[in-house]
Amino acid sequence: MKRVLCLVLTTIGAQLALAQNNTAWVEEARKVATSVPPKLLKVLNDEIAKGGHEGAIGVCREKAPQMAKAASEESGWMIRRVSLKNRNPKAVPDAWERAALEEFDRRAAAGEKPPTFEKAEVVNEGGTSFRRYMRALPVQEICLGCHGPADKLTDAVKAKLKASYPEDRGTGYKLGDIRGAMTIKKAM
Ligand code: HEC
Repeated sequence: MKRVLCLVLTTIGAQLALAQNNTAWVEEARKVATSVPPKLLKVLNDEIAKGGHEGAIGVCREKAPQMAKAASEESGWMIRRVSLKNRNPKAVPDAWERAALEEFDRRAAAGEKPPTFEKAEVVNEGGTSFRRYMRALPVQEICLGCHGPADKLTDAVKAKLKASYPEDRGTGYKLGDIRGAMTIKKAM
């Protein structure tokens, strides 16, 4: 009996989660979170074509935060990138983000395809309710030159990373891993 009740409650819980995922704010959050990565990817591609991966590191350092800032101002959402193994010392996830990233990692390890890994929830923080949304950033071929294992990084890239990010933990990834996530939030 207990087991049946548990099953029923789990099913209702799953349906509620599904319903919440289809609300208008989640649609909006998804749009905002997916607007930045393609723009960054284009700049990265252009810079790598011009000056190799080492030439593009500076671009990533300056352009990524700039783009997030511009998108924040345009959309009204606070936007940033986080990772469980962060390169930028500020890209440390908070507890909610950490739980989401760990879930994304579990799902990727279980063989699910990461492009659509997302989490959306209304979270109360210090008396204020926030709409929070996160979307995984999977490792693609182009990422490996700066986030891959040692044999994928040129000496020039290694030297530049070491100089700019002495505490860098953002290497050693392989295709399909979750590098981190776009994370956005807005007070209600
Ligand atoms: C040219 C080198 C380069 C390439 C290629 C690159 N990155 Fe990065 N990545 C960086 C640098 C440098 C930073 C730190 C940026 C900063 O200071 O905010 C970074 C930071 C990040 C972060 C923020 C979290 C953290 O660790 O600081 C994520 C997430 C990320 N990269 C994902 C990716 C993904 C996914 C790809 C492939 C689509 C990719 N990167 C390709 C150089 C690169």
